[in-house]
Amino acid sequence: MFLYFYNMLKYYNYHINSYNGSHMIISIINSKGGVGKTTLSINIAHSLQIRGYKVLLVDSDPQGSSRDWNAINEGTILPTIGLDRAGSLEKDIKAINGFDVKVIDTAPQAKELAVAAIKCADLVLIPIQPSGVDMWATSDIVGLIKERQELLNRPKAGFIVNRKIMGSTTSKNINEMLSKAGLYVFKHGLNQRVAYSDSISMGKTIHDIGGKAKNEVELLVDELLEFIK
Ligand SMILES: Nc1ncnc2c1ncn2[C@@H]1O[C@H](COP(=O)(O)OP(=O)(O)OP(=O)(O)O)[C@@H](O)[C@H]1O
Ligand SMILES: [Mg+2]
Repeated sequence: MFLYFYNMLKYYNYHINSYNGSHMIISIINSKGGVGKTTLSINIAHSLQIRGYKVLLVDSDPQGSSRDWNAINEGTILPTIGLDRAGSLEKDIKAINGFDVKVIDTAPQAKELAVAAIKCADLVLIPIQPSGVDMWATSDIVGLIKERQELLNRPKAGFIVNRKIMGSTTSKNINEMLSKAGLYVFKHGLNQRVAYSDSISMGKTIHDIGGKAKNEVELLVDELLEFIK
């Protein structure tokens, strides 16, 4: 049993450490508010931590939702810091050592912060809700990412569909619609579930709740680790 977990850890560590030789920065961005940036930041960060990575959660949103969540659990789940100055985000985040992964939860409607978070990222994740209005609103972020990719061939970037609703036509077709934007679309997204809002409100993560929601986060993080290989 021990050997099994040890080998699993080695396998996953290989993925992240082989990415850029040291550590990885994941920025979770969408200029639209309330799409799940904080929910995904916290749950992805915790899932990676459970898999054995040293993870830092960076709250670059002056609103401070990730820091509020961290205060509720008295800092017992994830090391969490606030870096909400666009001008120094890249320098400040790169000056912090000792972590395998840094997950940046970003602010809505803050173009300079989004640009800074894209600049320092190895991987950009764009949470999006299944609606046309939400899709149209991502064109600014997609444009910023593509400019950067054309220049440097990085960061990698992908859409994550959040709050999928069973039986909704848009939820069913959203992956295909999003693929037209020319970025990766994660096959695994999150459904609309009260477990997400309840867990964050209690200062917990989906891993403390378990069930179907935890399974979908795990599938998403499996896919993420494959994607960054
Ligand atoms: N899959 C989901 N199922 C149910 N509720 C969700 C889901 N994802 C997010 N929520 C809820 O939607 C609200 C907004 O989510 P969240 O705070 O993660 O978005 P955000 O993009 O970080 O918002 P902001 O732009 O204000 O920072 C929260 O109340 C959260 O609990
Ligand atoms: Mg937020």
